[in-house]
Amino acid sequence: MSIEIIRDLRGLHSSIARHRNGPLNTAASLAIVPTMGAIHEAHEALVIEAKKHANIVLATIFVNPLQFGENEDLSKYPRTEAEDIKRLEEKGCDIVYIPDNKNMYPDNFDLTINVPKLSSILCGKKRKNHFQGVATVVAKLLLQSGADYAIFGEKDFQQLLIIKSLVRDLDIPCQIVPIDTIRDSEGLAISSRNQYLDSEQKKIANNINIILNDASKNFHTKEIQETINFVKDNFKKVGIKKIDYVEIRNNFTLENINNSNKSNARLFIAVYINDVRLIDNIKL
Ligand code: PAJ
Repeated sequence: MSIEIIRDLRGLHSSIARHRNGPLNTAASLAIVPTMGAIHEAHEALVIEAKKHANIVLATIFVNPLQFGENEDLSKYPRTEAEDIKRLEEKGCDIVYIPDNKNMYPDNFDLTINVPKLSSILCGKKRKNHFQGVATVVAKLLLQSGADYAIFGEKDFQQLLIIKSLVRDLDIPCQIVPIDTIRDSEGLAISSRNQYLDSEQKKIANNINIILNDASKNFHTKEIQETINFVKDNFKKVGIKKIDYVEIRNNFTLENINNSNKSNARLFIAVYINDVRLIDNIKL
């Protein structure tokens, strides 16, 4: 069956109702895969995971203005709708929801969802209000769709924990399913931003995963600060001039950890290669 393309909330509700009462005629389950489009292999992996959990898969494409800062160019975000729809369909997506700004945020829209503790650190330190924008749109998408499952990538680990937290605290009856970070053949975490790297910059970026893996191998024999310094020093050695952060935090709470209890640690990094901002993380 070909993918159904839906652009407004009413259409979404009737499409989901139709699918839920469709030929299966059972209590069909629904999984949602929220994206901002520019579909790549990692988004496809989310759809493949979604199909393992539910018999109806809904992908969403919405470049959410609320999560872009003033200096982050919302208008430059890659928009490849026709190609996106094709790729989602090929992976077996049943419905794609592509609302416009007016549909998502009608006049008089006046709500912000904030998960303050988890949102103020790591990527949230520099990107003020970013995670409020993410939390607000994801809460809306989950409630609009009534999805039973929602699939998110560990590449954006902080985002994943924020979403888990908001689902718990708002009692949204949706199970959050994470997938591992998807990497290209050279180990770089796949991102729509990778296309902005020229071949020299890409070579530099390929070192990130190697350095994080090396750091994780030696983590338990070193002090936390030594691991952080190791990563920073090696980033500089391979030509990464601008480091936003290198931090080691608890895998569940994102709290700082100390040398006396190094279990459940995860290493988080954000760097710039020229002006392309790349993030990555690894369980230690
Ligand atoms: P976007 O960057 O399009 O990512 C959509 C989903 O793909 C997220 O769950 C993200 O974690 C996942 N993803 C992206 N690259 C990945 C990779 N290399 N490996 C594994 N998963 C990856 O994240 C967003 O959009 C938005 O903030 C959104 C949640 C849609 C809210 O607007």
